[in-house]
Amino acid sequence: MKVTNKTTSTLALFATIAGGLGVLSGCRGDRSDKPPRQFFPDMDDQPKWKPQAETPFFANKRTMRETPANVVAFGRVGITGDQPWGKPWALQRTALLRDGEAVFYGTTGANADGTVKYVDRIPASIEITPDFIKLGQTKFNIYCSVCHGFDGAGKGMVGQAWSYALPNFYDPKYKDATQYTGKDGYIFNVIRNGVTTNGEQKMPPYGHALNEQQAWAVVAYFRALQEARSVPLSDVPESERPALEEKIRAAVAANASAPANTQGGGK
Ligand code: HEC
Repeated sequence: MKVTNKTTSTLALFATIAGGLGVLSGCRGDRSDKPPRQFFPDMDDQPKWKPQAETPFFANKRTMRETPANVVAFGRVGITGDQPWGKPWALQRTALLRDGEAVFYGTTGANADGTVKYVDRIPASIEITPDFIKLGQTKFNIYCSVCHGFDGAGKGMVGQAWSYALPNFYDPKYKDATQYTGKDGYIFNVIRNGVTTNGEQKMPPYGHALNEQQAWAVVAYFRALQEARSVPLSDVPESERPALEEKIRAAVAANASAPANTQGGGK
């Protein structure tokens, strides 16, 4: 290759850039007592006040300021309405909580004997659509099916190995709204808080994984599962029936040839 002036100057330029990059990247991991070089400080350093620190800005030097007189933080504990100035806030908060109690806790106050009163049905402010039920199905399959089975009969892989038979969601007590176990608010509570009997945790809570909306979606799917077992074939659109009947025939045949389940499990 004929070395022209142009190629030498290009090579020199490359060498300079490479050298420059080497310096810039420095030696990562090397220890130094000097403050780090900041080539692009952007938002590395911001003025801020740390809790419990001093500031010359205020006369009393506190960075943590006290609430000005008559200001009430909304979620503050201790505002009972006994204080005349606190009354409107307390009333407003009670009203808001009353509105949200059903949605956020699945309850509406207490029964005469002091036990919580579960809502019978999913609160009306929650719109139940096919997508909402599908969301419930997805969450149910992820979080519940391992124990309760995809169909809710209590024979998931973990459920079969449980030390006692897991409940069967088709048991009438989970449908009958005159019993607490049949109320949507109770199922919602089981999902969010698990089941604890005599201080012993029987079913783990899923409140960390399922927020209120998602938990109600699981309740909706729970009801859809139950409903699916009691719907007569005549309720299925005629065009869908042959395919469904074929599926049922295949399932019955597969069941007949499968070995019996001897691993315990629910009813
Ligand atoms: C790790 C296993 C496990 C998982 C996962 C699980 N459960 Fe349970 N579930 C149990 C056990 C065990 C019981 C029985 C508790 C008892 O002894 O009363 C139970 C009971 C229930 C009951 C009946 C409560 C009663 O008072 O009769 C419902 C309803 C229920 N589970 C719903 C769900 C739903 C919905 C999910 C998913 C969000 C879920 N469970 C996930 C183990 C599980």
